[in-house]
Amino acid sequence: MVLLAASALFLAGQEPQAPPGNPPPEPPPGAANGPHPGPAAKPPNAGQRPTNEAAAPGRNQENTQNFFGLGAAPDPVSAARGQTTFVTNCAFCHGTNANGGATGPDLVRSVLVLHDEGTGTQIGPVILNGRPDKGMPKFSFNAMQIKDIAQFLLARSQATANRMEYKILNVITGDPKAGAAYFSSHCASCHSATGDLAHIAAKYDAATLQSRFLYPVTRSYPGTPGPLPDPKGQTTVTVTLPSGQSYSGTLEHRDDFSIALSDSSGEYHSWLLDENNGLKIDIHDPLKGHEELLKQYTDADMHNLLAYLETLK
Ligand code: HEC
Ligand code: HEC
Repeated sequence: MVLLAASALFLAGQEPQAPPGNPPPEPPPGAANGPHPGPAAKPPNAGQRPTNEAAAPGRNQENTQNFFGLGAAPDPVSAARGQTTFVTNCAFCHGTNANGGATGPDLVRSVLVLHDEGTGTQIGPVILNGRPDKGMPKFSFNAMQIKDIAQFLLARSQATANRMEYKILNVITGDPKAGAAYFSSHCASCHSATGDLAHIAAKYDAATLQSRFLYPVTRSYPGTPGPLPDPKGQTTVTVTLPSGQSYSGTLEHRDDFSIALSDSSGEYHSWLLDENNGLKIDIHDPLKGHEELLKQYTDADMHNLLAYLETLK
């Protein structure tokens, strides 16, 4: 049952959803104003955040919440799940901390995100429809994934508003010795501090280094500028036809119905995934290791690792 084998691979090889290649995605049906939510979608007081000047800044979180006029605190479990989804799917354009990247705007200060208040009602349509003409691809996420991302963005905006409690990894507070130990047990199978990662801290500032090891995005998104993908990080695929002829190359596109690759000469090949065509598909994602690690790090692990990597000047 080749098909079974192929779909098992699909499940096993879950990777961030890359937006489809050409042609660019269609605007969603029924979007009367094109892919942009019309002005009607914005609450009347767009741009204004309620503030509560009466409350004094307090040490405890509830007081600070009030002081900044922040709504309910995000659910930490949902926000953590949202962070994983965000880092793997959105950070490439919007930055690991959502405060903007080379190809996507700052979401922490986005009025649309502020009005969403962690509900997903404002963010959801943008995620599901994208804004293809502006370089924002669409994603097929379920309601829970959207809510989780909304909770993560809420946590980010509250952390930014609330500077007193704003501790991000940019501040190097970890223990480099503990980081070195974590490195040898979790990273050394693929990396070496004297080989490929030698002088890594001289190459990147701390914040960039942090996002590189959390998720070294090397996928390219069609039609968007950005860092050139590192070939070592590209997902590759081999498709073997029933005749035994096989094609290998960089994975360009994959969904439930089709798969496409471009071979070493740059030629694009695609196949329909039909029950009877007997294709054997073998996908290799070199960043799988990083994706797995993302789910495992504790805050302390991340601080320690960053402190350790910072010693590799
Ligand atoms: C390929 C780059 C890219 C990726 C990947 C991407 N975005 Fe975007 N996103 C953009 C661009 C560009 C815009 C600005 C569109 C515009 O100007 O209207 C945008 C806009 C947005 C907005 C609207 C902001 C506002 O103030 O109007 C939200 C919300 C958003 N993105 C969330 C996400 C989330 C969540 C993900 C991951 C699931 C994601 N984006 C992935 C490029 C990207
Ligand atoms: C299963 C293999 C694997 C594991 C395990 C792994 N990595 Fe990676 N890592 C890669 C690949 C592949 C790349 C992308 C190619 C590249 O940039 O070297 C990469 C990229 C990186 C980069 C970016 C390098 C650059 O020059 O931009 C850093 C930093 C990094 N990894 C750190 C880590 C750390 C820290 C750990 C452990 C917590 C780790 N990696 C675990 C395979 C792995």
